[in-house]
Amino acid sequence: MKWETFKSPDELSARAADLLLSAIRDNPRIVLGLPTGRTPIGMYDRVVRECGREYHCFRDVTTFNLDEYAGVSREHPGSYFTYMKQHLFDHVDIDPSNAHLPHGEAPDLLAECARYEEEIREAGGLGLTFLGLGRNGHIGFNEPGTPFDARTRVVELTQSTRHANADCFPDGRVPTHAITMGIGTILESKQIVLLVAGSGKEEAVERLRSGEVTVEFPASALHQHSDVLVLCGATGS
Ligand code: GLP
Repeated sequence: MKWETFKSPDELSARAADLLLSAIRDNPRIVLGLPTGRTPIGMYDRVVRECGREYHCFRDVTTFNLDEYAGVSREHPGSYFTYMKQHLFDHVDIDPSNAHLPHGEAPDLLAECARYEEEIREAGGLGLTFLGLGRNGHIGFNEPGTPFDARTRVVELTQSTRHANADCFPDGRVPTHAITMGIGTILESKQIVLLVAGSGKEEAVERLRSGEVTVEFPASALHQHSDVLVLCGATGS
């Protein structure tokens, strides 16, 4: 695991956007794994600005988001589908049929998880996956205790995660469940970039730096991958 540290959120976002755009330049048909949350917003802003200058930036790119809330419609302002449209998809030339997120309102969620895994396989697997880090060490919505070989599935969100994401559900109806790519699915990505910034994450960063590998700290699974870059910004309270 390699680490790069940044003094400002802007510098971190610039580096992340640069990695994403370089990967597309190197392989215009790349398959990307994409995160949501507050941390990647600066990266997406920069990518959108740069792509305005680069004709056909996302034309042949395929993306798979890490997760989506269960029981939340795609049109809901708090859905990750809405987030991705707002921050990326509506502003770049991606083919909507190549921009994948799990359907949180699918009638059969188990079948939806299996379908999502199949779609990733059919696309040739994840090439480069960007991740955020939850305060409790979660990646995607893989909460503490998740086995490292878990596949895409329905998960129950912890109270702390629901609290951390409550802003997106001002009516107080914060979802209790989500569909998430499993840790096993994520670890099959050829390259992984973990973006870490935001208040209250000092402990998580220390734990990740310690090298300890335990299912109680999901991000520690990344120590078992041979190509992980951590971009670490400010994490103070
Ligand atoms: C959510 C997402 C994660 C994300 C995490 C951190 O729980 N499911 O994928 O990494 O939030 O978000 P933030 O960047 O807002 O701290």
